[in-house]
Amino acid sequence: MAKMWEGRTSGETSQIADDFNSSIKFDSKMYKQDITGSMAHASMLAAQNIISNDDAEKIIDALGEILADIESGKLSVDMSAEDIHMFVEQVLTQRLGDTGKKLHTARSRNDQVALDIRMYLRDEAETISALAKDLTKAIVEKAEEYKSNIMPGYTHLQRAQPITFGHHLMAYAMMLLRDIDRISDCKKRMNVSPIGSCALAGTTYNTDRDFEARKLGFDRICMNSLDGVSDRDFCAELLSAISILMMHLSRLSEEIVLWSSWEFKFVELSDAFTTGSSIMPQKKNPDMAELIRGKTGRVYGDLIGLLTTLKGLPLAYNKDMQEDKEAVFDGCDTVKMCLQVMTGMIATMKALPENMKKAAQGGFINATDMADYLVNKGMPFRDAYKISGRIVAQCIKTGQVLETLPLETYKSFSDKFDEQIYDAVDLQNCVNRRISAGGTSVGSVEAQIEFVKSKLV
Ligand code: ARG
Repeated sequence: MAKMWEGRTSGETSQIADDFNSSIKFDSKMYKQDITGSMAHASMLAAQNIISNDDAEKIIDALGEILADIESGKLSVDMSAEDIHMFVEQVLTQRLGDTGKKLHTARSRNDQVALDIRMYLRDEAETISALAKDLTKAIVEKAEEYKSNIMPGYTHLQRAQPITFGHHLMAYAMMLLRDIDRISDCKKRMNVSPIGSCALAGTTYNTDRDFEARKLGFDRICMNSLDGVSDRDFCAELLSAISILMMHLSRLSEEIVLWSSWEFKFVELSDAFTTGSSIMPQKKNPDMAELIRGKTGRVYGDLIGLLTTLKGLPLAYNKDMQEDKEAVFDGCDTVKMCLQVMTGMIATMKALPENMKKAAQGGFINATDMADYLVNKGMPFRDAYKISGRIVAQCIKTGQVLETLPLETYKSFSDKFDEQIYDAVDLQNCVNRRISAGGTSVGSVEAQIEFVKSKLV
């Protein structure tokens, strides 16, 4: 196909160079943004008397038809075109002749592509936030269901203190709230219009960049044209926000993998979100959780790949920047899938409270409460800690637990012990007493649930 930029060179490029150079396979995703941006550009050109109203109307109508034709399947994107911007302009020119050729006045593909990605990603950011909210809601629902079911809380993956499953789940709701916040924060810097920066230096035409920005729903314009065409911070910011989000999904996935193992058996995943083995008939594998954990590495790769692409680029536009799209598209597509899978998996997951309780009854997770009991009886914490440690060591030797250790044995360690020690080490009481804000008591977890719900409306 004849090159639009043929002139300075013959435009006769080798096939391999064309294939290498072309971005249409991945940037055709942005056809809608490209066409909408071009419509606004044509309006601006007419409003500023750079082209006639008549020409602008024809261009805008034809662009509307191109959009409808692509969406109905009547027009298929030509995969031999260089990129989506060239493709749309070529079709426009085929349909309108010379009038079509006027559209590219006072702009360049450099500001055009920067505009298109910003528009594409602000929609993606919106979708990702909405999906993250859906997941948060699913988590909150489960937390409500299991707000009083006791399980061991862990540090170092060693049983530490009793908590409720609802409390544990709500920790993930808090992470997701921050993710949603990070995405909306990055949208503030994304929603700034580069169009009108042109190739790099601005233009001699009397354009109105604010008009175009307003028409396309941007908050303001980029204030430096070189920066306008070379800034991809918003891509890196979104990828970094979703990398953190993926890290959260990955940690939750890891827990789901552990919890659904025979070793823990804290949860049972629904059949709809598990797979079997081709050889071992007994298997029910948490593949979805493992894949989410695995895909986290892929999204990190997208982020690091993009940052590496950008780090050595002189101003302004360089073709290296064409590499931004696959990274950022892949990151967004991946996180959208992972969020939906995680939501389904959580919504259909059943906890096994009996097993959680049983696990909570081993491991001396009420030892801190025994120490606190002695502190309340007037013993300095460090002494109480030491005595409690010795009692645990003895129980491990004799196969006893704090709940049923005879009072005489307690008293042999300290005369401060009395009958009330049994209340103090009762697991339910241990949970009930943790009424501090953010703590594990049912009331505290309910407050966390209310907090998250108020952020989701
Ligand atoms: N396909 C290109 C990209 O994605 C569009 C910009 C091309 N500009 C240029 N001067 N070659 O970055």
